[in-house]
Amino acid sequence: LIAIGGGTVLDLIGFVAGTYMRGIPFISVPTTLLSMVDASIGGKVGINTSFGKNLIGLFYFPQKTIVDIQFFKTLPEKERRCGVMEMVKHALLSSILEFEQLEKLDRIDEMSFDMIFKSMEFKQKVVLKDTYEKGIRELLNFGHTLGHSLEKAYSLKLTHGEAVGIGMIIEGIIAYQKAVLPYEDLQRICDLIGWFLPLFPLDFERLKSFLKLDKKNKNEHVHIVLLEKIGKPIVNGSCFSHPVTYDEIENAILEFNKRLG
Ligand SMILES: NC(=O)c1ccc[n+]([C@@H]2O[C@H](COP(=O)([O-])OP(=O)(O)OC[C@H]3O[C@@H](n4cnc5c(N)ncnc54)[C@H](O)[C@@H]3O)[C@@H](O)[C@H]2O)c1
Repeated sequence: LIAIGGGTVLDLIGFVAGTYMRGIPFISVPTTLLSMVDASIGGKVGINTSFGKNLIGLFYFPQKTIVDIQFFKTLPEKERRCGVMEMVKHALLSSILEFEQLEKLDRIDEMSFDMIFKSMEFKQKVVLKDTYEKGIRELLNFGHTLGHSLEKAYSLKLTHGEAVGIGMIIEGIIAYQKAVLPYEDLQRICDLIGWFLPLFPLDFERLKSFLKLDKKNKNEHVHIVLLEKIGKPIVNGSCFSHPVTYDEIENAILEFNKRLG
C-alpha cells in the first residue's frame, strides 16, 4: 500500500496495512507539514471511532517515508500553522539553533527542506530510544496536556496545532512562574508562537473539566513537560514530566491573559 496524504490518511492506511493479513508493507508519503514532522514518524497508526480518539490502533512502521516539500505549496494557511507548531515544539525540546531559524522566517512558506528534515530527525531519534512511550517519548507531550484541553474547550475556534501552540505558551509560563525558565526565553517563545497564531484571552473554568480527564493525572496533579531553557527540557533521571496544581495552571492563564493586554 502507498499512503499519500495528511495524518488522517497515513493513520488510516497504516492501520489497514498493519492489520490486513496480520501486516503487509506500506510506504508513507506525508503531504501536510504536520504529517511530515509528526504523524509519519513514530509508528502510531489507527482509526478514530465514535467511542473516542486513539482507542483503536497499533504500532506499525512504513518501509519507507518519502517527503516532497512541493506539497507544502498547496497547503492552506491554517494547515501550515498547525504543522509549524510541532516544529516549534521539537526545537524547544532539542535545539536553540532550530528555534532561531524559525524566528528568522519572514513568511511561513520560506520553510526549507533542511528545517523540516531536522525536525523529523529529532522525533525519529526520540522514537528510536523509546518506541512504546515508557520514558523519553513523554517529552513529545510538551504543550499537549494544556493543548488537548484547549482543543476540546475551544473546539469551534482552535485546530489541534493552534491549541498545542497556545498550550506551549501556558506550559512555558508555568515553567517561568516555577522559576525554572528565564523571562527572556519565555518572551521569545510567546513572540514566536504569537507571530504564527492569533491569540485570545482564555477562561480557566472552561478548561478545568477537560484537564481533570487527562489520563496522565496523578493525585490531583496534572503532569506537564517543563522547559529549563529554549532547547532543553527538565529531565530528572527517568522522570520527563512534572506535577502541577490546578492553581498553578489558573495563575499561568491569568498571566497569559494579562500579556494580551
Ligand atoms: N500517528 C501520529 O503519530 C499522529 C500524530 C499527529 C497527528 N495525527 C493525526 O493526524 C491527523 C491530522 O493530520 P493533518 O494535520 O495532516 O491533517 P489532515 O490529514 O486531516 O489534512 C488536513 C487537510 O489538508 C488537506 N491536504 C493534505 N495535504 C494537502 C496538500 N499538500 N495541499 C492541500 N491540501 C492538503 C487534506 O485533504 C485535509 O483536508 C489527525 O487525525 C491526528 O490525530 C497522528
